[in-house]
Order: sequence, then C-alpha cells, then structure tokens
Amino acid sequence: MSHVLSSVAWPYANGPRHIGHVAGFGVPSDVFSRYMRMAGHQVLMVSGSDEHGTPILVQADKAGMSAQEFIDVNHRLIVEDLTALGVSYDLYTRTTTANHDHVVQQMFLACHRNGYMIEQTQKVAISPSTGRTLPDRYIEGTCPICKYPEARGDQCDNCGNQLDPVDLIDPHSKINGEAPEFTDTQHFFLDLPALADALSEWLDGREASGLWRPNVIKFSQNILEEIRPRAMTRDIDWGITIPLPGWEENPTKKLYVWFDAVIGYLSASVEWARRRGEPERWRDWWNDPEALTYYFMGKDNITFHAQIWPAEMLAQNGAGTRGGEQGPFGELNLPTEVVSSEFLTMEGRQFSTSRSIVIYVRDVLERYQPDALRYFLSAAAPETADSDFSWPEFVKRTNNELVAGWGNLVNRTASMIAKNFGEIPAAGDLEDVDRALLGQIAEGFTNVGRLIATHKQKAGLAEAMRLVGEANAYVSTTEPFKLKGEDQRARLATVLHVLAQAVVDLNTLLSPFLPHSSNAVHAALGGTGQFMPMPHVEEVSDLDEPQRPAYPIITGDYAGMPPWESRPVTVGAPVAKPTPIFTKLDTAIIDEERRRLGLVDEDGNEVSADGSVAGENGEGSGDDGDGTAPTGGGPGA
Ligand code: MF3
Ligand code: ZN
Repeated sequence: MSHVLSSVAWPYANGPRHIGHVAGFGVPSDVFSRYMRMAGHQVLMVSGSDEHGTPILVQADKAGMSAQEFIDVNHRLIVEDLTALGVSYDLYTRTTTANHDHVVQQMFLACHRNGYMIEQTQKVAISPSTGRTLPDRYIEGTCPICKYPEARGDQCDNCGNQLDPVDLIDPHSKINGEAPEFTDTQHFFLDLPALADALSEWLDGREASGLWRPNVIKFSQNILEEIRPRAMTRDIDWGITIPLPGWEENPTKKLYVWFDAVIGYLSASVEWARRRGEPERWRDWWNDPEALTYYFMGKDNITFHAQIWPAEMLAQNGAGTRGGEQGPFGELNLPTEVVSSEFLTMEGRQFSTSRSIVIYVRDVLERYQPDALRYFLSAAAPETADSDFSWPEFVKRTNNELVAGWGNLVNRTASMIAKNFGEIPAAGDLEDVDRALLGQIAEGFTNVGRLIATHKQKAGLAEAMRLVGEANAYVSTTEPFKLKGEDQRARLATVLHVLAQAVVDLNTLLSPFLPHSSNAVHAALGGTGQFMPMPHVEEVSDLDEPQRPAYPIITGDYAGMPPWESRPVTVGAPVAKPTPIFTKLDTAIIDEERRRLGLVDEDGNEVSADGSVAGENGEGSGDDGDGTAPTGGGPGA
C-alpha cells in the first residue's frame, strides 16, 4: 500500500475540452487512479484549470471579455466536461486562487534564496506599430539550426529545438508580418544548467527503472544536452506577482505561466488538505520518499514535466550545484513517472492545419453514453503512437464490442437468471468448463491490474474484453437456454451462478474504464448500494479570500471503491429482467456527425479537405507556454 499521487495536466481555461485532450490526460489518469484505489493504494488525484498566460489574454480580447470573465466561463465549462466524463479528481481547482498564488510565490522565493533564480537582461520583441511586446510564439522566422522557414520564436517544429526569437533568421510577426524590434528587459531565469546534473542523475535512475515509455525518457534526456537558463518571468500584466521588492509593485511583470502552472500539482494538494481540515496531509504524497508520483499529459508537455517542474523542485530542495537549503515544502519528490501520450487525430485530419477539425466532449456526451466515449478512447488510446477517432470506428466499436460483447453478456445473464430463478441461484458441483472460466477470470485480476499499473491500458482493456469473449463462449458451450427439463435444473442453476460470478468479476475488471455503466451492471446482477463512486461539482469560496466569488471545483469521496478482487455473488440476491446497459448506435449517425463536422455535405458526399471547418480554438500551435498547445490534443487543435 503506497501513497500514489496522480498529477493530471492542467487544461488551459480557453474553451470546452475536445476529445483529444481527454484521450491524452483525462481518461488514462482516471483509469489509473481508479485502479490504484481499488488495489488499495492511497491515491491523491489533483488538477485544475490553467488560467494565466498571454493566450488567455489574447483570446479573452477576441471574445470581447475581460480575462477574468473569460476564465470564469471556461473553467466552469471544463469542470462540467470532466465531471460528465467521470474523471475522479480528489480536487480539480484553478490557478487563480489565493492559495495557488501563495504556494507559487513561496516556491519562487525558495528557488531565489537558493540562488537558482538569476536576474538577466533579455531581448524582448516589440511590435513597432503597437509598441506591445510580442510573445515568442507570435514570431516566425527561419530556424538557425535546421533552416526550416516557419520556425516559431519559442521552438522549431521541424527539428524540435528550443529557440529564442532573437536567433531566428528574418523574424517577423505572425500577427501583422512586420519585423519586431528587440529591446532589453530584466527577467528572472531559472538556472537550469546548475540543476542539470541533478536532473540527469534523476533521469538515469528513471531510465533504469524501465518504467517510462521509451520516447519519453529519450526525449527528456536529449533536451538536457542543450540546457540553458530559462526565463520564468514575463512582460505581461496577467499572472502571479513576482514577490520581490522592486518587482512586486510593477504591474507589467509577472511570473511565467508555466512556472506557476506546474506548481499547481503542489498547490492543489495543499488546497485539498486544507479543505479537509488536515493542512499538512499533502506531505504524505510530496515528502514521503516511498510515495509514487505520476504525471499524465500529452507529449507537447514533456519538457515542462520532465525538466522544468523537477528543476523547480530541485531548486526548492537546494539540490543543484549551487547547493542551498530546503524550502518550506521540505524535500519534494521528483516524478516517479512522466506518463505522456501521443496525439489523437480526428477523422484522420492533422492538427494545426486549416483542415483540422475538432470534436468536443460535451457534444459527444450530449448524444452518446460517457462510457462509450471512454471505451473508445481507451481501446484506441494514443499511448505510444498517434491514433485516430472517427465516427465509423466509434459506431463499430460501440456496437460490436460494448453492445454485442459486454452488454450482451450482462443482458443475457441477467435475463436468464430473472426468468428461471428471479434471484442468483446457488451452484451445485462445478464442472471443468465452469472452473476453467472462473480460473481465467481470476487470473484477469493479476494481468489486467499489472497492465493498468504500468500504463498499458489499451492492452489491459483488450485482456478484459478477451475474458468477456471467453464468458460469451462459455454460454455457447454450456447452452443454458437449452437446459429446460426438471432434471437439468440443478445444472442450469450452476451455469447461471457461474455466469453471474463471471459478470460480476468482469464488471470489476472493466470498472476503471467504464465506471458509469459498472454501477448499472452491479445493480442488474442484484448488487445493492453504489459500486463505483463518481466525482461531483461543488461551489466553494476561496480559502484565503472568502469575499471573492465562489467557484466550482470537482471532488469526490472515493473511499468506497470496490476492492480489486473477485467478490462472491450473493446467492438469493434478486435479479429482475434487465434493461440494456449500452445503447446500440444507428449507423445513420455516422453521416449525421460527419455532416456536423463539414466532412460530408447534405447528400452524403465527401467535402474536399479545404472545405472543412477549422477548430474554433485554432489559436496557433504548440508552445513553450506563451502558447496554448492543448494537453494531449495536438498543437493548435
Ligand atoms: N495548460 C497546459 C496545456 O494545456 C498544461 C499545463 S500542465 C501544468 O498544455 F502542469 F503545467 F499545469
Ligand atoms: Zn529547426
């Protein structure tokens, strides 16, 4: 039994979530966290909305709203999306709380005190026509390293190198094409080179663990080679105040959005503990060296979780070459594992092109079951390679696997029991075929559990569904529907008992993936009470400034998670004629949905690629934090 921290990437509060986001961070983190709780671990699952940064300002402007109004609206939308999907956060909060401000400033001061925040002069780009600073990502030019002509000021998408806008050849503004002017400005830089040895030692240890996905560990080690100090403050008036004399009075300099966002994992843990009235409880996950800490995100976030955040923690810990003292947060645990996903494309379209399309979680959930979406995103998860969501595939998987596979097994089991006994019958002597099925499913607890714990959820789900197939095959072999005579009644009872047990166990195995329907299956087989706890929304006031407007959080009580083990069915539990658990989809929805996306016209003809709708969040592509690359969604989608 361990303390397990599930740190889930913080979505930008810039709009509702699309299915790419939740494929990258939402569903995988929830499957993992639910499983780990079932396996007996003490899980703390935290996240929130990422509400600072230039793009929030730019997009609020575009929407004709103040930044505060804009994030209030979007934070609420995201809370609704993630709750409807059933993501079991202990706390989903936001980065604009007084608690977060405070924790971030404490972190900054500790890093500064230990000598890892160094003041340097930086060239900043100014737009000559407006006099406003131009964020790195709004500058384009030729990459000095690979000569790619459309490199951004923050990074080159062609060779992947981190860039500085001043290094670009022929830099120009993406907004109006003019060449920026560079002027000098003072900023604080995180002294990454002074933390590089400690980072490298930590990464070597992680590599040796063999746990990380190969691409993620390789990428993380590679970016250590080009390491240099990175600015952790910005010329911007929206963000967290720099808590130093001479700086805090200045309304135009704030902490960099990524400096603060990653600290959210810690501040949300602190907020959770404070809200429970146990203000020091967060330390169980952050200071206990035995605690396990996992970070879930899309691949565009690796740098921030495998370098910047660990570097901030090491600086706070006083563990770089400049030494130092432990800050107020004690010795913070570096990530056990950075679990990064690849991207989910939608209907085969690439992101960050004018042809990209976007499918919102709320639109899917308005028309389909949340577990149908969760099933698809788990079965076709972009774990180690990009994968695609398409409506034909969604219909196919829902109908063939969920409805005809699992749903059908549950339904026919419950119907046969209802019809013949009205309650779970006691079993007589088991035959080999009975023992074989139950034995296989018993092994499923070990196998599926191991796969989920090691972030091979796709394989875990496939194994659980293979066992569903075995149970369906058992029905074909034992043919309970033919056991009609009085002399066959004892055998019928045994077979149906075995089937009930199989369904109940399979329901447990599938419940991290399909939490909503697991409650329905539980009830259909005579179970009482709630099986799988679900998250809910609460309106809370700010802990430190209660006069601020209340805001919604996601939280839940997950203490009653079912244990990850076979639980014997209760003989005599009443079983009524079931209603289907999953809804079969009409193939007509394929064209309907594709028409909504502009992929086919009214007559069902394919629309050429350039005639498709662009995502309304098409605010640009991947970022180093001045940007809004969506977590796990693919740049710019
Ligand atoms: N908002 C970022 C994104 O959507 C993710 C931030 S994760 C955090 O890409 F850890 F920094 F919060
Ligand atoms: Zn390049």
